[in-house]
Amino acid sequence: MEVIIASDENTLARKCADIIESQITTLPDSVLGLATGSTPLGLYEELIRRHREHGLNFSGVSTFNLDEYIGIPADHPQSYRTFMNQNLFDHININQSQTHVPDGMGENPLDSGPIYEKKIKEAGGIDLQVLGVGTDGHIGFNEPTSSLRSSTRIKTLTHQTLEDNSRFFSADEFQPKLAITMGIGTILESRRILMMATGESKALAVREMVEGAISAFFPASALQLHERVTVIVDEAAASKLELKGYYKFVGKLQDDLIKKHRPSDWISR
Ligand code: F6R
Repeated sequence: MEVIIASDENTLARKCADIIESQITTLPDSVLGLATGSTPLGLYEELIRRHREHGLNFSGVSTFNLDEYIGIPADHPQSYRTFMNQNLFDHININQSQTHVPDGMGENPLDSGPIYEKKIKEAGGIDLQVLGVGTDGHIGFNEPTSSLRSSTRIKTLTHQTLEDNSRFFSADEFQPKLAITMGIGTILESRRILMMATGESKALAVREMVEGAISAFFPASALQLHERVTVIVDEAAASKLELKGYYKFVGKLQDDLIKKHRPSDWISR
């Protein structure tokens, strides 16, 4: 795993945007895997800014979101489809028909998972998957004890996740307890993974993910099995990492290297 420690949230957003920009300028028909939640908001703002100010071009890009709630329609204010439209898709030149979010209202929700997997395969697979991590270690909505080889399917959210996400729902509003999510196996099939985490509340999760034992009890630890993961964290989220000094040392050497080579040289399919 490559661990990059950014000094603050803005620097983190810029570093993540650099990786995406490099990906989509090198391969304009890239397939991106995207996440919702608070963590990638700064990244999406930065991508919108680069599109508006520098013409960053999304016209050939396709996207697949990680997850969606079951039981609320796509146009519900709290649906992940609405989140993506409002926070990214409506502000860039992406072809909306090339943006995919799992179907949380399918007639038979059990069919929605395999259909989504098929769509990802037909698109050629995910080139770069953006992830956040839950305080309980979930990635997508793969809660603790999710199979490390799982594919897109329905999951029941833990009390911890329901509590963490209750901030988005008003007290009298229906908060879904089920979600459809890419599996850990689906995520591990992406060619490259960009994991973002910010704030002290994620410090323990980041330590378990990067330095803990691989375990279904802490789903994000499965990323250790992928050969191309970049974890970008701010100082607060990095605060409990045992080898923090080492990651910073590597980062410094890499910055020097980047000055010599173009990062796009490292992108391949
Ligand atoms: C969102 C998702 C989740 C979030 C995680 C962290 O699509 O799949 O795994 O990435 O819950 O959420 P935030 O960023 O709100 O802390």
